[in-house]
Parts: sequence; structure tokens; C-alpha cells
Amino acid sequence: MKRKKIAVVGGAGQIGGIVAMIAAQRELGDVVLVDIPQKTNLTKAKALDITHMLPTENSDVELSGSGDFSVLAGSDVIVVTAGVPRKPGMSRLDLMDINIKIIRDVAAHIKECAPNSFVILTTNPLDAMVYAFHKLSGLTKHKVVGMAGALDSARFKSFLAAEAGVSTEDVACLVMGGHGPTMVPLTRTATAGGVPIEAILSKDRIKAVVEKTRDAGTELVRLYETGSAYFSTAAACIEMVESFLKDKKRVIPSAAMCEGEYGVHGLFLGVPVVIGAGGVERVLEFPLTAEEQLMFNKTIAAVQEAVAESGV
Ligand code: LAC
Repeated sequence: MKRKKIAVVGGAGQIGGIVAMIAAQRELGDVVLVDIPQKTNLTKAKALDITHMLPTENSDVELSGSGDFSVLAGSDVIVVTAGVPRKPGMSRLDLMDINIKIIRDVAAHIKECAPNSFVILTTNPLDAMVYAFHKLSGLTKHKVVGMAGALDSARFKSFLAAEAGVSTEDVACLVMGGHGPTMVPLTRTATAGGVPIEAILSKDRIKAVVEKTRDAGTELVRLYETGSAYFSTAAACIEMVESFLKDKKRVIPSAAMCEGEYGVHGLFLGVPVVIGAGGVERVLEFPLTAEEQLMFNKTIAAVQEAVAESGV
């Protein structure tokens, strides 16, 4: 059986390296780390270093590094981690001008070399970058998605589990909306082993968890000082990669193109989607309460503004 091909654009970076490592540990496929020519050696170093982990991990896949984007050809899935991360005091929107240039380049390369791949983007400001990539690359809406909800929901899950004193395995929850301060962690639908979280935790404790979830990315930027979260970011990307490659059809909140769902028209933003062999196979829709819809409308407006600012 031919192994799947996973490419990481931004392969010299922290998230890129860890995506490659987890993909290789789980034997998801062969991994190609790609970055700008000046970072070729770093992509090759990471590929070789991870290759030398594989005997201890009992994994048989091949890794390689390159500064030439033509190696993207034949990729089943491409994770785009390229872009500049935040520094303390910056908002994700402050990265617009520098990262839009990078996304323009990446979109041109993928359009040319791998137009049939499934592309997962992590570049901030996330929702606007995914929109730009979709428009510039010409890939279908099913093959373009942003990784944000998987990470925001993992954070929400982690905080809820700790607060309730239960296993993270049993917490199911959903963060919708844009990847920024207007994100909407839905407390009404969160459960622990099927039991509504609102029955276990007080309103005040849930409110505190929601605030911590919204602030988690910024808190990590404060602590790291030189960049943003990478272990959890990479793990969240892998959830999506795996669901696609194995056609698992997992329900993962992701920045997907909405055409009428939740009152969103022609924008990418965080909604629950089914990820399978077809990429983003469908957006799952359910009625929001008036209060939730109000929060959601704020996040739509914020993403609309970011998209307008991107100039794409
Ligand atoms: C975060 C950055 C990656 O939320 O946006 O950590």
C-alpha cells in the first residue's frame, strides 16, 4: 500500500516540526517539511532528527526537508504553519500585513503544485488568512480549512475538565466563531460523560473558564515571550489531518466556508464540521439561543472587518 503524503509548509518552525513529529509517531504517512530556501537546512535537520526517533517509536515512514516548493506535488494533505507568530502585547490582527504576503506566496505554490490536496492553515489572523488562501489558490471550499476551533475547544475542554475534576476524555465541548477575543465557547452544549456541564459547575466558575479559554493563546504569548503556542497547536492540526487521512468523519470545530449557515455568508469562521476523505464534508448546523446568536454576530463582524483589512 502506498503511504499517504503529508506536507508541512513552514516546516522549519516550531509548529511545523511538531506536526511532523506527531504525524511520524502515529505513522500517518510520509512527511515533507518545506520552508523558504534560507531555512532549507533547518527543514532537513528536523526531518533527519525525527527520522532518528522512529526506531524507538516503531514507526516506518519517510521524512524529508526542502526549500523548494515543487516537493508539494502529490501531497494528500498540506498543513500551512508558515507565518510570523505574535509577540507579547500584539493582537493576532497585528500580524495581518506581514502574514498576508506569506499566504499569497504559499497560495501560488499550492495552486501550481498541489491543487488537489486538502489544506489546513494555522496562520494568523486565522479566519482572514484562510479566506485569502481560498480566494487566491482557487481550491474548492471543501479542500480549504483553518485550524482554530480544534485548539480553542481543546483549551476549553482542558479547563472544564480541571474545574469539574473529571477526565478530559469525557468532556465534549465546542468553541465557535473567529479565532480571537470574540470566539464563542458554548457552555450550554458542553458535557462531561453526557452530563451537562452547567449541572456540575456554577455559573461563575463556567464564566471564569470561558474567559481563560478566550485568553489562553495570549497567555502563552506572554509566557513564551518570543512566539505563540506550538505543542497544542500542532496536536490540534493532527486531529484534523488524521480525520481526513483515515476518513474518520470526526466533528471538529474549524474555520470553514459558510454560505448561509448560522447567518454567515461567504466567510470562513469557526463552525462544527465533519472532516473525512472529502475534506470538509459538511457544516453541522443547529439552532443557537438568542444570546449565543448575539455573540456569534459579534464574531462575524470582527471576521468581516479582518477580511476587509486583508485587502484580498
Ligand atoms: C493561539 C495562537 C496560535 O491561539 O493563535 O495560541
